[in-house]
Amino acid sequence: MILVTGGAGYIGAHVVLELMSHGEDALILDNLCNSSRSSLERMASISGRRPVFVQGDVRNRGVLDTLFHEYSINAVIHCAGLKAVGESVREPLRYYDTNVGGSVTLCQAMKDAGVFTLVFSSSATVYGDCARMPINETCATGNPSNPYGQSKLMAENVMKSMVASDPRWSVGLLRYFNPIGAHESGKLGEAPTLTPNNLLPYLLQVASGQRPALHVFGTDYETHDGTGIRDYVHVVDLAEGHLKALQALRAQRGVHIWNFGTGQGYSVIDVVKAFERVCGITVPLSYEPRRPGDIARCWADPGKASLELGWCAHRSLERMLADAWRWQCSQTHAFDTQVG
Ligand code: NAD
Ligand code: UD1
Repeated sequence: MILVTGGAGYIGAHVVLELMSHGEDALILDNLCNSSRSSLERMASISGRRPVFVQGDVRNRGVLDTLFHEYSINAVIHCAGLKAVGESVREPLRYYDTNVGGSVTLCQAMKDAGVFTLVFSSSATVYGDCARMPINETCATGNPSNPYGQSKLMAENVMKSMVASDPRWSVGLLRYFNPIGAHESGKLGEAPTLTPNNLLPYLLQVASGQRPALHVFGTDYETHDGTGIRDYVHVVDLAEGHLKALQALRAQRGVHIWNFGTGQGYSVIDVVKAFERVCGITVPLSYEPRRPGDIARCWADPGKASLELGWCAHRSLERMLADAWRWQCSQTHAFDTQVG
């Protein structure tokens, strides 16, 4: 059985679906601070299988010990974490406690239970403002501009030291670029509870009429149209990569870093135009100054994951946007129905 921490959340739920569709048993540990039980219903309705779910906190050693005792867990995919950059600036201790402290507690519990295979949800944010594009795994980690990014880097460093001290570990540090999109069924996707910070959830809310305009942060970057460039990757491609990473870790010990991106960068305006083309909706824009802490360009060299895992993201930007829009429409419809 695979323990997926944060498995009720956006990425974790897609990972759990992927595991179940490959015949793996999944056990979710999630405190539901940024998700709800409805994602469990959605997973069941897509796959016909229901993962085991335990509501609990990854920082709670007692809960972890009970899980490792009661279930036959042979690997952990650690997605639980806090991810809002602005919030991390306001509440740094909560971010370090969850993202670093939670990871330390999990690793201690794993070690004591004799479970040494771990896949960790890291982020391209650990590269900071990298001068060279595309970014490969040999690029030095940078100095992330906010506590969220720092907490991911610290958690990675904890895991690297742990592996260096004990050869029984197999750890995969997955550095996600910009995950977007939704399950093609339209039944599972990202459901932000607060005002979204990230581009796509905000764009979707503008397109569905919940917000007046998309703020384009910065039009004077050194890019082809002046707006920031990122490597957007479909969440289902990402989920498939977790399975491949797990397979590789079962065969090879040590610490392994893999970039999870497509290798293709798109600007904010590229994304907006593609969305308008694919979904047939005009997105009102409002041009704003640069967002503090943003970098101009960031895209992956995903060659190492391709070579070592046989994984590459193959879903196009158009597909990501169409899937995300299908999910958004199903949400808006559900909301209308509830209100009506
Ligand atoms: P999410 O918020 O949808 O999912 C995280 C899940 O973890 C939520 O269900 C939340 O309830 C749970 N959780 C949080 N703190 C917990 C705790 N202390 N104990 C148990 N459960 C807890 O976020 P996501 O987008 O699915 O991200 C998953 C992971 O990937 C996070 O670690 C995030 O930092 C990382 N990541 C995300 C992105 C992105 O753009 N979405 C990019 C890079 C890295
Ligand atoms: C952000 C975080 C990063 C985190 C990632 C996933 C910052 C500085 N970085 O990455 O640490 O890992 O989210 O959670 O916050 N944009 C707009 N209008 C918007 C929103 C975004 O123009 O309303 C632009 C941004 O300026 C950027 C691009 O869209 O150029 C992507 O932004 P976003 O989706 O927030 O992701 P990142 O900034 O790459």
